[in-house]
Amino acid sequence: MHGVKAMVHEQDILIFLEENLSKKRYRHSVNVCRTAESLALHYGCDPEKAVLAGLLHDCARELTKPELVQFAVKAGLGAAEAAAEPKELLHGPAAVYLCRSLFNLNDGDILAAIRYHTTGRENMSLLEKIIFLADFIEPERDFPGVAKLRRLAFRDLRRALIAACDTTIRYILLKGMPIHTDTVLARNYLIREGAGNTQS
Ligand SMILES: [Fe+2]
Ligand SMILES: [Fe+2]
Repeated sequence: MHGVKAMVHEQDILIFLEENLSKKRYRHSVNVCRTAESLALHYGCDPEKAVLAGLLHDCARELTKPELVQFAVKAGLGAAEAAAEPKELLHGPAAVYLCRSLFNLNDGDILAAIRYHTTGRENMSLLEKIIFLADFIEPERDFPGVAKLRRLAFRDLRRALIAACDTTIRYILLKGMPIHTDTVLARNYLIREGAGNTQS
């Protein structure tokens, strides 16, 4: 046995996803998994971790709000905070609990990539960056500029991530929803990273 994959049964994950996600989101999960694997191979990240994180990132996406709150709390979110968050922001933390309890997946790097895939965060690991971006550019995503972003993703990871943050923030502004501070922090950090000034 070697690697994280040997301890987690991919077939069990696929069966769970098939039973708990719509056909469209099941396809999305497989697409994110494949895109993440390509990015991982391109940038020297562990492809097995990218496959698992990609497959599982949305495993809690179609749970009910009470289930999401319950599982997010079990993953470490405060009860009041969890109750106040919209469903979109709970499915990452809730997925972490599902991964631990259903699939015995305890790899901290994979769990962080799943937890923060919606918002991003300051100082993301390479795997976190890859999952965040793969979620954005998988082959069935369709928004203005996606083709350009797909090309950029394999040329300049940092600039592609900034563009993804910009797209998220623009969308949220348009919808009149609150911007998660982690997305702002992620973007600021990436910009400073480019200027070689991430310590301040
Ligand atoms: Fe998601
Ligand atoms: Fe997703």
